[in-house]
Amino acid sequence: MSELTPAQEKAAGRPPLGLYVHVPFCASTCDFCAFYQVSPTAKAVAGFLDGVAAEAGLPAWTRPVTTVFWGGGTPGLLAPRDLRKLGEIVRERLGGAPVEWTVELAPSSVTGARLAVLRELGVTRGSIGVQSLQPALLAALGRRHTRPQALNAYERARAAGFPSVNLDLIFAVPGQDEAAWQADLREAVALGPDHISTYCLTFEEDTALWVKLARGQVKRDVEAEARFYELTSAELAAAGYAQYEISNFARPGHACQHNVNTWRMHEWIGLGPGAASQHDGWRGANIADLEKWRAQADNGARMTEQRVRLTPALLAEDALIFGLRMNEGVNLPALRARWPDAPWTIAEALVERLVAGGLADFAGGTLRLTSRGRLLADAVGAEILEKLSEPAPA
Ligand SMILES: C[S@@+](CC[C@H](N)C(=O)[O-])C[C@H]1O[C@@H](n2cnc3c(N)ncnc32)[C@H](O)[C@@H]1O
Ligand code: SF4
Repeated sequence: MSELTPAQEKAAGRPPLGLYVHVPFCASTCDFCAFYQVSPTAKAVAGFLDGVAAEAGLPAWTRPVTTVFWGGGTPGLLAPRDLRKLGEIVRERLGGAPVEWTVELAPSSVTGARLAVLRELGVTRGSIGVQSLQPALLAALGRRHTRPQALNAYERARAAGFPSVNLDLIFAVPGQDEAAWQADLREAVALGPDHISTYCLTFEEDTALWVKLARGQVKRDVEAEARFYELTSAELAAAGYAQYEISNFARPGHACQHNVNTWRMHEWIGLGPGAASQHDGWRGANIADLEKWRAQADNGARMTEQRVRLTPALLAEDALIFGLRMNEGVNLPALRARWPDAPWTIAEALVERLVAGGLADFAGGTLRLTSRGRLLADAVGAEILEKLSEPAPA
């Protein structure tokens, strides 16, 4: 392990290293959600904590961790003593205070005692899954919390003194019109969070909402999604939140560094069932099953699913796809210097097509999506994937 702190590593120009911990517990399953999670029984939580301790001993911790992200599931649902245990397991591996440490919280389980432990551990960022502040929409999403609980969770997070607080909101919910979305955005802004994530509702396979969609009980409206998206950018920009990624807006200095570093294709170590990692030449995920994951970790195995060796072509392709989702865009000479062996001739032809089609601007070596390109970011990503995955001409 290096002698430098994460901040010194950053100053020395060493690439950042993230640590993601998947905490797979929720009080109930929301109608839209496909993240791996189970009920937080005492036995399951104890097994999880033992499994994380075992798994944390497996990867090579070659440099200090720059950013930590506890996601889920609902990490903030753990009892204060379990938050402390998890924090202690994690802190042993950090090599100094990270520059950012995020924990996801659900409004129905935010308490002063839990937040106090998180602050003591050094958590810097609370991310609250508000989704909506309108009772009818919370019901349409199958959320457990109420509007007063969401408002109360925000006030408690502020009172606990997190340097950064994020609110997650969802749009294009069945039954939501533009006025309702505007009301949610304006109420969220009035609270004064440092960061707002706005996600377009995705109908994930095998969720309750997906079943309703399949039965024709609810409908997806792609044109309305685009209108909601445009309204989001306009409302949040006017309120001083700069868009830095398709779904993410922040006040100056509050962009989520952990996510930005993953989108820039740096390395991160993932711990917990279902957690993905990109580290030490490999990308892969842990098995999304608490007991199987635990047994594997005890036997010294991790990242057993979708395991692929990292190649310059794969990293350059993903740096383009995810980098273009960020407003800063991608600097092509810098990417080329990082991965000189990627198929750059094909990439350059693609860049020309994106610019000619009005989907991107290219200036000073940096390629950025236009507002039209951002609306079509998923299609742009699919095209990059298709073209760069083609075998290069002999
Ligand atoms: C893993 S959840 C963690 C937050 C916490 N469990 C909660 O829900 O309050 C992270 C966020 O992903 C978003 N999300 C999850 N599934 C989604 C879906 N199908 N469509 C849109 N956003 C989704 C929600 O905004 C949620 O807050
Ligand atoms: S949205 Fe959050 S609280 Fe709801 S099931 Fe998914 S992870 Fe759990």
